[in-house]
Amino acid sequence: KQTKDSVTLSWSSGRYQLRVWRSPFRLEILCEQELVVTFNSKGLQEIYHTLMEHKTSVIEEQSELLYIILRNTCCAFPGPSSVGADLCLHGFRHVYGLPEHSDNLQLRDTRDGEPYRLYNLDVFAYQLYSRLGLYGSVPLMVAHKPDRTLGVFWLNASETFINIQYSPTDHQVTFDSVLRAEPQTDVHWLSESGVIDCMVLLGPSPQQHFTQYAQLTGYQALPPLFALGYHQCRWNYIDEADVKSVDSGFDRHKIPYDVIWLDIEHTDGKRYFTWDPVHFSEPTRLQQHLEKKKRKLVIISDPHIKVDPHWSLYCEARDGEHFVKDREGQIFKGSCWPGNGKPLLFNVTTRAWYSRCFSLDKYKGSTPSLFVWNDMNEPSVFSGPELTMPKDAVHCGGWEHRDLHNLYGFYQHMATVEGLITRSGGLERPFVLSRSFFAGSQRLGAVWTGDNVANWEHLKISIPMVLSLSLAGIVFCGADVGGFIQDPEPELLVRWYQAAALQPFFRGHSANVTNRREPWLFGDEVTAAIRTVIQQRYSLLPYWYTLFHQAHTSALPPLRPLWVEFPEEESTFSVDSQYMLGGALLACPVTEPGIQEVKIFLPGSGEIWYDIRSVQSYEGGRTLSLPVALDTVPVFQRGGSVVCRSVGSCSCTAELHPDCNLLSLQGIADGELYLDDGHSFRYRDEKAFCLRRFSMLSGRLYKGMQYLKGKASPVFLLSPGTKDISAAFQYMETCCKLTVNTGNLRVAMDWEIQIG
Ligand code: NOJ
Repeated sequence: KQTKDSVTLSWSSGRYQLRVWRSPFRLEILCEQELVVTFNSKGLQEIYHTLMEHKTSVIEEQSELLYIILRNTCCAFPGPSSVGADLCLHGFRHVYGLPEHSDNLQLRDTRDGEPYRLYNLDVFAYQLYSRLGLYGSVPLMVAHKPDRTLGVFWLNASETFINIQYSPTDHQVTFDSVLRAEPQTDVHWLSESGVIDCMVLLGPSPQQHFTQYAQLTGYQALPPLFALGYHQCRWNYIDEADVKSVDSGFDRHKIPYDVIWLDIEHTDGKRYFTWDPVHFSEPTRLQQHLEKKKRKLVIISDPHIKVDPHWSLYCEARDGEHFVKDREGQIFKGSCWPGNGKPLLFNVTTRAWYSRCFSLDKYKGSTPSLFVWNDMNEPSVFSGPELTMPKDAVHCGGWEHRDLHNLYGFYQHMATVEGLITRSGGLERPFVLSRSFFAGSQRLGAVWTGDNVANWEHLKISIPMVLSLSLAGIVFCGADVGGFIQDPEPELLVRWYQAAALQPFFRGHSANVTNRREPWLFGDEVTAAIRTVIQQRYSLLPYWYTLFHQAHTSALPPLRPLWVEFPEEESTFSVDSQYMLGGALLACPVTEPGIQEVKIFLPGSGEIWYDIRSVQSYEGGRTLSLPVALDTVPVFQRGGSVVCRSVGSCSCTAELHPDCNLLSLQGIADGELYLDDGHSFRYRDEKAFCLRRFSMLSGRLYKGMQYLKGKASPVFLLSPGTKDISAAFQYMETCCKLTVNTGNLRVAMDWEIQIG
């Protein structure tokens, strides 16, 4: 449809419309005739770009749509420029996303201070509730209201600022009526360079929003199962004997774990891809020792190559032109741990070369059970502005660093991941943790929230931080357990383990100047409390793995703000101290010292929630006061759900035994279990996996309960091709808990348990 001032395009049988206004230029998106988004609503769209050769200062009206302002510069390289635009999100009062910031889940109105900044930086002991940039950036904002979730994805990797203005509902009184203006949120994006590449994702459901975003930037890689277990790290484990003694400490204290990590001192003088000749002289022996117990080793590998003309890797990098240049065309000198190290370029050729460095023949002392940690890849440059690379450093093709700064870590992560995949002939799933990230890093692996501090505030903020990451697609994320800097008091350490066991990436880590803090160093009560939560994490791993499969195939994050599961309930929109773990579990970790009671909001009137410890049930739509002791971790299972757990004890993920636990609301429940070999790509290439749905039909369990009281053996196992067998069971009347011994029934077979 065209008028003098506008053109309207419509799709999906007129359900959606895009109206383009000529003057002033703006775009409107309408869904079912309702205005949802206006682009350039305040006319803030601008492109400032620079002239390469001439000193000019003109303001030209290039077209009726864009104003191009050419700025007065003259230099060999492009230099500063900028692009910006504003959007009005109609009807929205809640916006989220834009990681990484140490802030609340719901983004704040920025009129009272700084805009949100996306600029990847190495920030030690970061300040809380700050809008300054941290280690990674995802330029995705997610807006939500009861009937719609909407995303704005601003694809730009240069330094970016975002201003947010909320306008709540406004009542305008006129002569004879009250006009109710819709609430709205105005958002202004401003990036230092590049083009305006802005995508609006219309949802309308949270699930559709996640899929739309994943279609643009990719789905979460399916991690190897061991990566979802517990990781033990420290800067630094001193030598092979130290690593072995920590490893056996876990066995001695019956605490399961899967991976032990080595920080920078494991190398020969900070030359990554080498080993300290004294302390780690037999790296293969160490890895084999761990591998016998089905455990893995992770080593750190930063993107800074030590300048040492006697080191073949340095010479290859130099001769292959793999280093970033400064603006004079000389190799850029940037300092980091190796002292005079040089950061790498990460163009296609460099990535291929870097990937090859992880091959088993080239990386001496590495074995297939060695995995990688990319750190300091913002990149961190101790001698640079804001501890990073100067913006006028030059990458391949003449690209200035300013144009791609926020992508630097992403490309190191990508090259490392490709290296590990290639090392295995394309057969094995990689595991690589990265500190820096960008939109799409979910395709590569895990991230963590960097150098946090051992205090209660940092524990508390870790929850909204991982929720923001999850909303922005980076779902495999976590925070250093216990806090990286300083020494946690035992109570804080226990609470941190409890919280982190319910977050996707679960790693204890501490700085070099802190005291040792392996879980058994603080007395029996603390050891027991930590053992319990790590064991609980392992017992929930079949559920976690299934959630990761869901993220991999349908983009739903394992960790979900409450509103994702209860999109119409406004009371959930600002909650960020509790969250859903999948659709079935609600977690509310304790993050305050010395408390005896926590207040927990149980959403959904009509829902039933079961405390997973006591199995006591509570109705939804209320706030509960729950008494807590040091070993209490408030987790509630949603009525009507099936959660698959593992039973029995184990020492690592290789020993899990999946079992099934269902909770019923009016006799109906369902859920899924995903299983595969846990490490290879056979699930993808040969479809070698098993995805089972467990359903309980209406009324069955309820009727069963009546029978159970009177009959000797009312539980039958029915399986095609076999005789029906009556099964042994136990029924605990106090909490209505029925435990059935399913004997030889395999999870991959079809079967039915008939009760009553
Ligand atoms: C900074 C990282 O954030 C930290 O986790 C690591 O231990 C140190 N670098 C040393 O490598």
